[in-house]
Amino acid sequence: MPVDIARPNLTGRTGDRPKPPMRGGWAVVMVGLPARGKTYMARKLGGYLSWLGYETAVFNVGNYRRATFGAEVPASFFDPGNPEGVMARQKVAMAALDDLKDWHTSRGGQIAIYDATNSTRARRDLVAERLSAAGLNVLFVESVCEDQEIIEANIRATKLRAPDYANVSENDAVTDFRARIKHYEAAYEPIDDDSLSYIKVIDVGRQMVLNRIHGYVPGRIVNFLMNLHVLPRPIWLSRHGQSLANVAGTIGTDEALSPEGREFARNLASWVKGQNVDQLVVWTSTLQRTVETARLLGRPALQQKSLDEIDAGLCDGMTYGEIERKMPSEWRARQADKLRYRYPQGESYEDVIRRVDPLIIELERQRQPVLVIGHQAVLRALFGYLTGAEREAVPHLRIPLHTVLELVPRAYGCEVHAHKLGPTVAGASSS
Ligand code: F6P
Repeated sequence: MPVDIARPNLTGRTGDRPKPPMRGGWAVVMVGLPARGKTYMARKLGGYLSWLGYETAVFNVGNYRRATFGAEVPASFFDPGNPEGVMARQKVAMAALDDLKDWHTSRGGQIAIYDATNSTRARRDLVAERLSAAGLNVLFVESVCEDQEIIEANIRATKLRAPDYANVSENDAVTDFRARIKHYEAAYEPIDDDSLSYIKVIDVGRQMVLNRIHGYVPGRIVNFLMNLHVLPRPIWLSRHGQSLANVAGTIGTDEALSPEGREFARNLASWVKGQNVDQLVVWTSTLQRTVETARLLGRPALQQKSLDEIDAGLCDGMTYGEIERKMPSEWRARQADKLRYRYPQGESYEDVIRRVDPLIIELERQRQPVLVIGHQAVLRALFGYLTGAEREAVPHLRIPLHTVLELVPRAYGCEVHAHKLGPTVAGASSS
């Protein structure tokens, strides 16, 4: 029976904005059994690469399947001995692959991530052949995991939140999902073809096997995946308490906290105490307003230069009104393109994004809660990465004073809660 393939919206953006130069397009092809963290890895990797400025999109074959056949198909749909199921899955997989190629050739894509199980040699050969014929570099990323504890945690923490089981009880969902995994296991062939470029991630980064990995982009991908893990833990982002510069309305500088800022530091310390976490990583910038904010926490805080506020160069110490009056063309240029505008002798948001890149990797690596006490612009960059915000939107994200933004990265998105600790102060955020 012919089926109409429903084509879900792409994630990621396309457009004619400036992007980093790259020789040839890339297709990253995920491989692995269900519940091995592939979707999490694909989504996180896609977010990271697009945050770095690459035109990136994730093609999730599961979304094509859900859009075409509905979210609730029985486990038998995935049985390799069920010819109708096999054909239906092949169709949606090829539709996603066609869209991927089309996105590369006609929409200026740079790095596409093909998120599917691709669990047999025959499927991988077919995918590689079609992608290579379209002139794309192909990199396989296989997630191998035999550790039952990790698999179980993955099923509970991620799959039960997946759209497939939105209307199903937890027990039924687990039973059905285990049956689905069994079907895939019956046909699964791990990558063993050394003519391919591949990264094998074993037991969530315990071991990595690299084969035919050359060049800048694959190197970045290896570094990112090496540090990624799937354990949910909160990341708390907070600006420093209100500073004397905030009171005066000036940007930059290295001023101390105002009395309200010191009150926030006390509120933050008691809020953190109330979270009852044994181990907490605390990072501040090297500027005194963040160091002072962290002082009452009673925990060691690591000062990171890369967390210092955007360098306003010749405008450091001025108010926005002064910049507009005294340097109108600079003001207009910033209004026109806040992401790329660079202060004279200072930085742009793009510079800040590049500067915090190593910190992102460090952040991903942490297995315990992390509290980052930073500044408006640098926290916009971190928040933008963690929530998958559009790059263009980053300079306009709302990061108010005296508020802890709690982020918990999960397979299908990042949970965000804002904890307003007060005191309330005027002019707490710019846009
Ligand atoms: O005003 C506080 C501040 O942290 C300044 O030091 C910094 O220049 C500014 O925010 C960044 O925000 P925006 O990019 O919106 O000017």
